[in-house]
Amino acid sequence: MAAILQSLLVIVLLSLIGQGMCQNCSTGDLLIQQNQTGTNVQSKPEFKVTVLNECPCLQANVKLGCDGFQTVEPIDPLALAKSGNGCLLINGSSMGPFSQVSFTYAWDTQFPFTPISSDINCN
Ligand SMILES: *[C@@H]1O[C@H](CO)[C@@H](O)[C@H](O)[C@H]1NC(C)=O
Ligand SMILES: *[C@@H]1O[C@H](CO)[C@@H](O)[C@H](O)[C@H]1NC(C)=O
Ligand SMILES: *[C@@H]1O[C@H](CO)[C@@H](O)[C@H](O)[C@H]1NC(C)=O
Repeated sequence: MAAILQSLLVIVLLSLIGQGMCQNCSTGDLLIQQNQTGTNVQSKPEFKVTVLNECPCLQANVKLGCDGFQTVEPIDPLALAKSGNGCLLINGSSMGPFSQVSFTYAWDTQFPFTPISSDINCN
């Protein structure tokens, strides 16, 4: 019971924050971090990319700039797929508020992913 109340409280708080701050959300509120995993794939270092939606709204159709991106480790196209001028994250599905998605790749050098577009959906 206490746990249920607690999660209700969290949901209410999140939606309050969401209503208050949504207008300030932008594609720039996607934080991209990446680190080497310590594993090698075909003798190239593997990197794990984490994309965090730092905005209290849904962000869908998230595209990352990926001009010149290469990997020897195949990436599930449902995680990241070339699309037009960028790479579409999670097949265009919505990222929830403060949620994150990650994928891994392997290449000689780290690729500087940046968010280039997204559809922000605040209700
Ligand atoms: C958006 O941000 C500005 C400055 O950071 C702030 O003054 C304003 O209240 C914010 N708007 C909302 C709706 O939170
Ligand atoms: C990557 O490493 C930095 C410091 O080395 C750490 O602060 C950060 O949390 C790590 N990020 C991920 C996604 O593991
Ligand atoms: C990926 O997105 C396309 C276009 O929105 C959709 O038709 C397809 O069903 C999606 N694939 C999966 C596995 O969700």
